[in-house]
Amino acid sequence: MSDQRPEIEALFAERREFQPPAGLAQQANAGPGLYQEAEADYEGFWAKQAGSRLSWTKPWDKVLEWELPYAKWFIGGQLNAAYNCVDRHVEGGLGEKVAYYWEGEPGDTRTLTYADLQAEVNKCANALTELGVKTGDRVGIYMPMIPELPIAMLACAKIGAPHVVVFGGFSSDALEGRMIDSEAVALITSDGAWRNGKVLDLKTAADVAVANATTIKNVLVVKRTGNDVAMQEGRDHWWHDIVERQSDQFDPVPVDSEHLLYLLHTSGTTAKPKGIMHTTGGYLTGVSTTHHYIFDIKPNDVYWCAADIGWVTGHSYIVYGPLANATTSVMYEGAPMFPEPDRWWSIVEKYKVNILYCAPTAIRAFMKQGETWPAKHDLSSLRILGTVGEPINPEAWLWYHATIGGSNCPVVDTWWQTETGMILITPLPGVTTLRPGSATTPFPGISAKVVDAEGNEVPNGSGGGYLVLNRPWPSMLRGVYKDPDRFMNTYWKRFPGMYFAGDGCKVDSDGYFWLMGRVDDVMKVSGHRISTTEVESALVDHHSVAEAAVVGRSDPITGEAISAFVILKANVEASDALAAELREHVAEKIGHIARPKQLLFTPELPKTRSGKIMRRLLRDIAENRPLGDVTTLADSGIVETIREKAGAGESE
Ligand code: WTA
Repeated sequence: MSDQRPEIEALFAERREFQPPAGLAQQANAGPGLYQEAEADYEGFWAKQAGSRLSWTKPWDKVLEWELPYAKWFIGGQLNAAYNCVDRHVEGGLGEKVAYYWEGEPGDTRTLTYADLQAEVNKCANALTELGVKTGDRVGIYMPMIPELPIAMLACAKIGAPHVVVFGGFSSDALEGRMIDSEAVALITSDGAWRNGKVLDLKTAADVAVANATTIKNVLVVKRTGNDVAMQEGRDHWWHDIVERQSDQFDPVPVDSEHLLYLLHTSGTTAKPKGIMHTTGGYLTGVSTTHHYIFDIKPNDVYWCAADIGWVTGHSYIVYGPLANATTSVMYEGAPMFPEPDRWWSIVEKYKVNILYCAPTAIRAFMKQGETWPAKHDLSSLRILGTVGEPINPEAWLWYHATIGGSNCPVVDTWWQTETGMILITPLPGVTTLRPGSATTPFPGISAKVVDAEGNEVPNGSGGGYLVLNRPWPSMLRGVYKDPDRFMNTYWKRFPGMYFAGDGCKVDSDGYFWLMGRVDDVMKVSGHRISTTEVESALVDHHSVAEAAVVGRSDPITGEAISAFVILKANVEASDALAAELREHVAEKIGHIARPKQLLFTPELPKTRSGKIMRRLLRDIAENRPLGDVTTLADSGIVETIREKAGAGESE
């Protein structure tokens, strides 16, 4: 934990309940028996899912090897992820089924059937092969939400080359660090991205990153926005030049179940993001199973996960889970409120979306816009709603349920992480009685507990503690890339034998899990995971900053918002202009999602006698509330000084 934050207190008691709609329950993919079945033999349960949902070119010899903290699943088995997501559906007669209804921000559209997807993936796999990419090589992907993004990921998977997707909103610095860490041999990007009617220039950012990420020998560039970009002879290739002329046939490379499928970097408690490792067989089993049961996917459903593929939600529930299940998805490129706040609702109406999966921050932002926007559209196709990324406040849950779901769509509040690969705590829409604000109970076969600081289980209904997982699951992370010590220290050391998730949680007397936010130095801003240390180092990187401390304060729309406290170097004058410059500096170093909403100049920071910054007090100041316990503060006058002198700051 970051400092002496008091034991988490469980203060909230939400008691409204919603039963599954009877019609939905009768036909649901998951019945109540699934819990008992999985509990009786969880290895057998996952083996049954892996065998029935996926095609293996070689059967596995052993279901699970669990040498804490390392799990291996379906050992000896071989398969190809792209074959499982695309080719086998075409072979099975689903070639004409739509894989993606894609809609660009300016309003252009594309429809890709499974046969189209197969041809595009094969052409891209051939192009990557021509550029020298081989099985096992890492390939960076830095793209907007266009069809070439999943195509590129699947092309990598087809070759058995792990992809390393970097969110298109991240800066060149963030891209560079991830490319260097993964030693990528190639990068796939685009000229630009549409966002709120404007073009974001991705290629220039990619060029800056590639200049220092010297393992990258080739850059493949999709033309999306048509802005002028520099192309470096011999290194940069237009997608339309090289991919389009390839053959649309490519034999999938069978890989071991434990072959690395991808790396995805996520923020931890230090400035350096961790490369989370996901492998093939177990990961696909986990995402396909959860997608089928939690979203109750039927063959003719239109499903829309409105996340960005740059995050794990997009990897698991826009690409691998839905495609493994031969689902028809909607994919939308741009900003949710563009050109007006009913863009999402017009998409739901147009494509007759049955299942919508999004983040609480989006729901709160729509809620603020009022009910007239959704009321303009027929949303009656919706059957199931989902949320992910941060705790959802009951008020937003109830608005989503009533205003978007017409009061008859179950809301599945799904808890999981980049590290877990798949949803772990969630309702099953035809089974679970919902309580707004609770992610309800662990998925069948999953074992989660809440423990106190000593690792003892906190009895149900008695208070808060730390969420842990005490049994392996197929899509769990296999490690932190090139850093086994960090893997051990971050997740497995705190409570021996158990995976420490970093979240506070309480379980009520009926066994419902209530997530209570992070207990470490990770913030959740609009559902995005950002480390306080990462933002602090970006600030200190500026020539006028001597020291900085960053905390998340609660925000009605974004969940948490970033507050920065900055000590300037001697002789540097505090000013609004400088505050604006520093906020921008953070956006340039990390990405716009990390730009502090509030930045305060201060002569000192509150520290303990041993010199640790007391973030808890900074949070109190940021939220303008009475200070908590100050007895460990080295200089008790300092907090009042900060409060008084904190005037010369700037807020967004
Ligand atoms: C938070 C996102 C409460 C949690 C898939 C977790 C949630 C972190 C929920 C992982 C939820 C995610 N209720 N909190 N339903 N879902 N979280 O890696 O703090 O971006 O540890 O993965 O998001 O964030 P990540």
